[in-house]
Amino acid sequence: MSERTLVLVKPDGVSRGLVGEVISRIERKGLSLVALELKHVSRELAEQHYAEHAERPFFGSLVEFITGGPVVAIVVEGVRAIAAFRQLAGGTDPVEKAVPGSIRGDFGTEVQYNLVHGSDSPDSAKREIDLWFPNL
Ligand code: TYD
Ligand code: MG
Repeated sequence: MSERTLVLVKPDGVSRGLVGEVISRIERKGLSLVALELKHVSRELAEQHYAEHAERPFFGSLVEFITGGPVVAIVVEGVRAIAAFRQLAGGTDPVEKAVPGSIRGDFGTEVQYNLVHGSDSPDSAKREIDLWFPNL
């Protein structure tokens, strides 16, 4: 059963030159790229994307970070794509949760600078794809 998910290479991943690494892992997993764009993120888009975290103490800092440099937004498609990319990404905290072999586990150290985003459910995938790629 094929599905779609939204992947972001966040500003730290772009500035560290890890876009190719992330795309390579997506492709090697057997997933396909449906749309891809390098985007400068507005405050409005960032706040909508992370709306579920609006009341969390890290929200302001997270929005500053994600608007602070270009992001690569990708729509990824394939069998169980949502869970499959979350597995490629690894847990949210790159040291405490993400295991070596995952993107965050291999390349990250700080929770805010965890390199990638992946939608966490079919509902959030739909919401996020509509938000980032309204013309898709
Ligand atoms: P969350 O949706 O919990 O994680 P994930 O990206 O794995 O779905 O949080 C969104 C982002 O917020 C997370 O990738 C990094 C940032 N964040 C912090 O900066 N501090 C925190 O304590 C948490 C939980 C997240
Ligand atoms: Mg999340």
